[in-house]
Amino acid sequence: MEVKEKLAKVIAFSNHKGGVGKTCSACNIGAGLARKGKKILLVDIDPQANLTASLGLNVGESNVYQLLLKNCAPEQTIYNVYENIDIIPGTLDLAGAEIELSVEIGREKLLGKALKSILHKYDYVLIDCPPSLGILTTNALAFADEVIIPLSAEPLSMQGVEKLVQIIEKVQDSVNTDLKLGGVLITRFDGRKILNKELAEVIEDFFKETTFKTRIRDNVSLAEAPHSKKDIFRYSAKCNGALDYESVCEELLMRN
Ligand SMILES: Nc1ncnc2c1ncn2[C@@H]1O[C@H](COP(=O)(O)OP(=O)(O)O)[C@@H](O)[C@H]1O
Ligand SMILES: [Mg+2]
Repeated sequence: MEVKEKLAKVIAFSNHKGGVGKTCSACNIGAGLARKGKKILLVDIDPQANLTASLGLNVGESNVYQLLLKNCAPEQTIYNVYENIDIIPGTLDLAGAEIELSVEIGREKLLGKALKSILHKYDYVLIDCPPSLGILTTNALAFADEVIIPLSAEPLSMQGVEKLVQIIEKVQDSVNTDLKLGGVLITRFDGRKILNKELAEVIEDFFKETTFKTRIRDNVSLAEAPHSKKDIFRYSAKCNGALDYESVCEELLMRN
């Protein structure tokens, strides 16, 4: 009898607005799932490479740029950070990749093509997208099973979300008909601020049950942890940030 290999679920963290918690969420959802015994591959496709830096990696020769544009084997670009967590580092070289990629054949599918052969080694592949909707983000969406949209409960946060939803629909209509909106994650939530509460309700109203029940509270440890080059569970296991990301991980596992 042929046993079908179980392949990783691929989740892209995307929002073209910066500072909404994409990197923080990819890092800490990855770490939270790893603590629950899941095998995680983080992929940093943001030229700013914040995810890479926040886990203490020096960007070496082998990174996502080599993977996408130099035909480097995926195994050569993967680094182990902690138990159950590997990463393919990002690099500033990616800043020019939008232009370089624009002339490549099958340019939206390069990431998927490059990583297909290692999907069976992981439970989740989490992709941290840049704050733009260019070809790098399209590569992530073309490859992903799901997209998670982190949204900070701040003024103007809903601005441009329609554009992102349109892009997701375009990808669903063309290169990836199976792409799902996996969830909208409210971040940097401060229940003491009336405006924050109102905005969270607007978001929940708009996205309905697609919104995660867990709201990630504004928590100083979440801002500090990257400077210590640690995920939130290793930095401060009992802080609100750790509790909230743990709770999102539980929701994710329930949904899947
Ligand atoms: N819930 C939170 N509470 C406090 N600070 C946060 C929270 N989420 C993210 N941050 C901090 O806010 C900044 C932007 O978050 P980041 O995850 O880098 O956003 P993005 O990747 O969307 O640009 C970072 O300095 C990060 O450490
Ligand atoms: Mg980021």
